[in-house]
Amino acid sequence: GKLKKKAAEEVGIKSYDVELPANVAQDELLQVISDLNADEDIHAILVQLPLPSHINSDEVLASIKPSKDVDGFGPMNVGRLCLYAKELLAMPSSSPMGESPSPSSSTSLASSFCAMPCTALGVIAMLQSLDMDFRGKSAVVVGRSRIVGMPVAILLQALDCTVTTIHSHTANPQSYLSRADIVVAAIGRPEFIQAEWLKPGAVVIDVGINHKEDSTAKKGFKIVGDVDFEKAKHVSSSISPVPGGVGPMTVAMLLKNTLNLARASIGLKPMETFR
Ligand SMILES: NC(=O)c1ccc[n+]([C@@H]2O[C@H](COP(=O)([O-])OP(=O)(O)OC[C@H]3O[C@@H](n4cnc5c(N)ncnc54)[C@H](OP(=O)(O)O)[C@@H]3O)[C@@H](O)[C@H]2O)c1
Repeated sequence: GKLKKKAAEEVGIKSYDVELPANVAQDELLQVISDLNADEDIHAILVQLPLPSHINSDEVLASIKPSKDVDGFGPMNVGRLCLYAKELLAMPSSSPMGESPSPSSSTSLASSFCAMPCTALGVIAMLQSLDMDFRGKSAVVVGRSRIVGMPVAILLQALDCTVTTIHSHTANPQSYLSRADIVVAAIGRPEFIQAEWLKPGAVVIDVGINHKEDSTAKKGFKIVGDVDFEKAKHVSSSISPVPGGVGPMTVAMLLKNTLNLARASIGLKPMETFR
């Protein structure tokens, strides 16, 4: 939360915290969102997850106005991600010359902007920065959460990768990993994925953020990813570090989504999503 706030401030986006007590009632939380939905000065709403167990998170996420749903976790935007990932990834950048309002923006779900989940966008942006040809590549996404694994898998498929999703019931995950050109790890298990499971030359994006005991560290722990980075870096052709990889990209994509929601609210096309 703090990092997101600071980053917003740095680029001139005003952000406001609405802090509610952990025992807040569902109705009260829904009312707060309803007020933000109606506030014309607010372009983006982010509900910090996870919510307390007595709250119905699905109902809360569904209550965010789709055009302000900056994480893209609400059912409307997840639906649009599933149906139109290809179109959304290919959204034209705004021309620096005339920024004419696009008349189709409110009429076509396929051609108007909607925010896609920030971490997934960060993963894709990192992969696209490698200038690789995604078509026909074998991609394995480890984890299928709504926040990371699921949207990453949808986006990779939209880029014409052949995608396998691995989860806690997958038998013999190594057999899939050993054939993967691209591995995205999002399981939340410290250094779980071993270097010898990877195909030599694979591109590895590590989403995991885990605490690992470390008596030499001041706090008694260090932050590690889901991949054994020190060994995997010798097998992979590219690998993202933790900390400092997907984390900052997530924040960058949040800012970009916010900007594009604000632009869309006045009929402007989104800024280029990638590159
Ligand atoms: N860098 C960032 O900005 C960022 C953002 C979000 C999350 N994260 C980090 O990414 C990690 C994953 O987050 P999340 O929210 O997706 O977690 P999550 O909701 O706990 O989901 C974990 C997923 O991994 C699967 N899984 C767990 N153990 C597994 C195993 N041993 N083998 C195969 N699959 C396994 C689970 O399978 P089932 O579905 O079968 O249970 C589930 O689909 C966490 O470390 C989190 O802190 C980082």
